[in-house]
Amino acid sequence: MKINKKSSLNLSHGELQEIFDNIYLVTGAMNIKGRLPLCFSRNMTVIREGNHLTLINSVRLNEAGLANLESLGSIKHVIRLAGFHGMDDPFYKERYGARIWSVNALYFKGVNFNIEIEDGYFRADENIGESTILPVKDAKPVCINTSNPKELLIRLEREGGILISGDSLQNWAEPDQYFNLPAKLMMRLMGFIKPCNIGPAWYKYAQPDSAELKKICDLKFEHLIPAHGSPVIGNAREKYLPAFNRI
Ligand SMILES: [Fe+2]
Repeated sequence: MKINKKSSLNLSHGELQEIFDNIYLVTGAMNIKGRLPLCFSRNMTVIREGNHLTLINSVRLNEAGLANLESLGSIKHVIRLAGFHGMDDPFYKERYGARIWSVNALYFKGVNFNIEIEDGYFRADENIGESTILPVKDAKPVCINTSNPKELLIRLEREGGILISGDSLQNWAEPDQYFNLPAKLMMRLMGFIKPCNIGPAWYKYAQPDSAELKKICDLKFEHLIPAHGSPVIGNAREKYLPAFNRI
């Protein structure tokens, strides 16, 4: 089988945990190379409907992790919420033939925004807009169109409303086991280590319009499952209000 070189083979991860009925979470490592390599955590959310699985914020799992995932159902869809994410989407396309649904943003490396469409390393099957019917029946996209690259969240109409975020809404109250020492120190200084937080690097580089971002407060959501940090279970909208008031 052809292995995608840009995917995160060999990065460690934990076990799939069921956090709501038919909604699973797995946390794994992410590595940013550089003079001072930073290692921190990211989450993949898995939604099961019947025998079909949809992966959100994909994280490549090791063979044992993939076997566990396969025991839940067939991997049919992958949804990419964050323009800065997506490196493992090609792996799930190649290995499982999953249909790839993406925020309308190029797949690119780094933070260079002056790139042309042919510079993208991968193309999704579907670009998601406001009116896209997602492959999860009670899921609706929440688009942040003023950010560059664009960003999405998904709202599930269950359990009082569940928001699933990419880089926009994060919840690292403390560094977890996947942080290396440089990340523990630097990311605290950079403002990442804060509960119910707006992703500071995403906010700085993608420059979303604050008024558009604050519209998230108009949504009803009891819970939030972020790509970075722990799930916020219960009263999530109210817990994020201070972060929205800071911008
Ligand atoms: Fe991220």
